[in-house]
Amino acid sequence: MAHPATTNSSNRRSLCSYLALVLSHVIFVVAENGEPTAIRISCGSSHNSLITEQSYLWLKDFGYTGGSSAPIDAKITGAPQLTTLRYFQVSDGPENCYNITVPYGHYLIRFVFAYGDIDNSNREPQFDVSLEGTLVHSLKPGWSAEFDMSCVDSLVFINDGAATACFHSSGHGNPAVVSLEILQIHNLAYEILVPSNKYTILKTVKRISCSAISSGYGADFNADPWGGNRRWVTDNGLTKGTSDQLRTSKSIQNCCGAPNFYPEIIYQSASTTGIGASLYYTFDIEPNQNYSIWLHFAEISDVIVSKEQRVFDILVNDRLIFTDIDIISLAGGPFTALVLNKTVLVEGRTLNLTFRPVQRGILVNAVEIYQVISMEFVTTECEVWSLQALKHSLGLPSRIGWNGDPCVPQEHPWNGLDCSFNVKGGSWSIVGLDLHDQGLKGQIGGAISSLSQLRSVNMSSNSIYGEIPAQVGNLYYLAVL
Ligand SMILES: *[C@@H]1O[C@H](CO)[C@@H](O)[C@H](O)[C@H]1NC(C)=O
Ligand SMILES: *[C@@H]1O[C@H](CO)[C@@H](O)[C@H](O)[C@H]1NC(C)=O
Ligand SMILES: *[C@@H]1O[C@H](CO)[C@@H](O)[C@H](O)[C@H]1NC(C)=O
Ligand SMILES: *[C@@H]1O[C@H](CO)[C@@H](O)[C@H](O)[C@H]1NC(C)=O
Ligand SMILES: *[C@@H]1O[C@H](CO)[C@@H](O)[C@H](O)[C@H]1NC(C)=O
Repeated sequence: MAHPATTNSSNRRSLCSYLALVLSHVIFVVAENGEPTAIRISCGSSHNSLITEQSYLWLKDFGYTGGSSAPIDAKITGAPQLTTLRYFQVSDGPENCYNITVPYGHYLIRFVFAYGDIDNSNREPQFDVSLEGTLVHSLKPGWSAEFDMSCVDSLVFINDGAATACFHSSGHGNPAVVSLEILQIHNLAYEILVPSNKYTILKTVKRISCSAISSGYGADFNADPWGGNRRWVTDNGLTKGTSDQLRTSKSIQNCCGAPNFYPEIIYQSASTTGIGASLYYTFDIEPNQNYSIWLHFAEISDVIVSKEQRVFDILVNDRLIFTDIDIISLAGGPFTALVLNKTVLVEGRTLNLTFRPVQRGILVNAVEIYQVISMEFVTTECEVWSLQALKHSLGLPSRIGWNGDPCVPQEHPWNGLDCSFNVKGGSWSIVGLDLHDQGLKGQIGGAISSLSQLRSVNMSSNSIYGEIPAQVGNLYYLAVL
């Protein structure tokens, strides 16, 4: 049954939309010079620590919505030697997040995942990870067998004042995270879309330094910090056909500046083939997605010294993406960097990148493959605030969750909510709220008066008191007692 309004809900609503308007018009100052913002969190840790390998300060854990700390039993090869992780049990709710305040900008966000005895009884958990409300990583069975699958990163714009990373349970064990890094990169880095890629996330599939002696981070390769300390893996163990290794210590022209700040060393080694032999890399990928491919070349062979001596085509799954690539001609000379990029839709589960000779053999220095993920539209800010107020006034137990965005990722909406997309406004709204029989005690209050699209509320079989404002949405169903 509906009650008469006790608060002036139209005033509340206009204050709410006024605040939203003010926030959306805050002009952020972009730091183009100086040091990039860099936040490194040692999840589950109660103290800051300086890890000797890279001399970065790892901050003690903060900014999380729940969970517990557990020790890491085994050394994780390739990762900074942190000793704890944070994990989220069923009692912590189905979604838990980190919300870390950062200035407006473009960031590389990296996670390292692991699990152990205390957090998961030594059974590998499976779970989803979202950034800014968009599902980015799904940890599939076997992820912990390979460091490349437990250390993942993506490039994303943060324009709401805080980086939000959420862990979503899928009923297979407790999500667990060792570290979270939020590293600022140049605003124009990896620009692939016109006018900009502010509404896409580039998820790293693979970042390869061909014939590198070993895998490493930007810091190991003396890279500019504005490059986001990207991890480059060697292609030694990858499927690539037969190839030879080539290395030089000569310096490389045009390699390392804005906006992508590549480390010079990735151009100082290459995988090559002899006359007439192809080189190819195959990657397991999500089907029917767009992939942004970045290819790096610098002619470092002593026998190829002028143009037209080495020419090749580049194919993705038998489709030509570049023809007659002549590194010296396109770069303007030997020992000079050439970067090519192309975004392609790949239908199958394999991306086969093939370099096919036209003149002599192949030379390739580095390869980057990113999955292009469109960002989700988020829930109307005002509605998020109302739900947070409701969560508070009802004293919602943490097992119900309600962290991150209420409606997205669409695969993981909050418990008890029915969301609907408003095409005109480009945002999600709450149309249904069903928290019946959850043992809730508290007041429903005026908080839900901002849920202007709400059509149905079922709060029956709880101990809820207080009045429901009459002006709530256009309710056709309401059950409180
Ligand atoms: C995340 O942090 C920002 C900035 O500090 C704050 O405005 C926002 O309300 C926080 N979001 C959540 C879900 O806590
Ligand atoms: C791939 O890119 C094309 C062209 O930009 C776009 O129309 C299409 O929706 C994208 N597909 C996916 C799955 O993102
Ligand atoms: C990416 O490729 C496009 C199309 O060839 C080109 O216009 C653009 O300049 C390239 N971007 C970079 C950063 O190299
Ligand atoms: C990839 O392409 C190469 C060269 O065309 C071919 O030899 C190889 O079998 C292909 N691999 C897959 C998995 O399709
Ligand atoms: C509301 O919840 C009660 C259980 O408390 C249930 O019996 C009833 O069917 C629900 N109403 C709707 C419309 O779902």
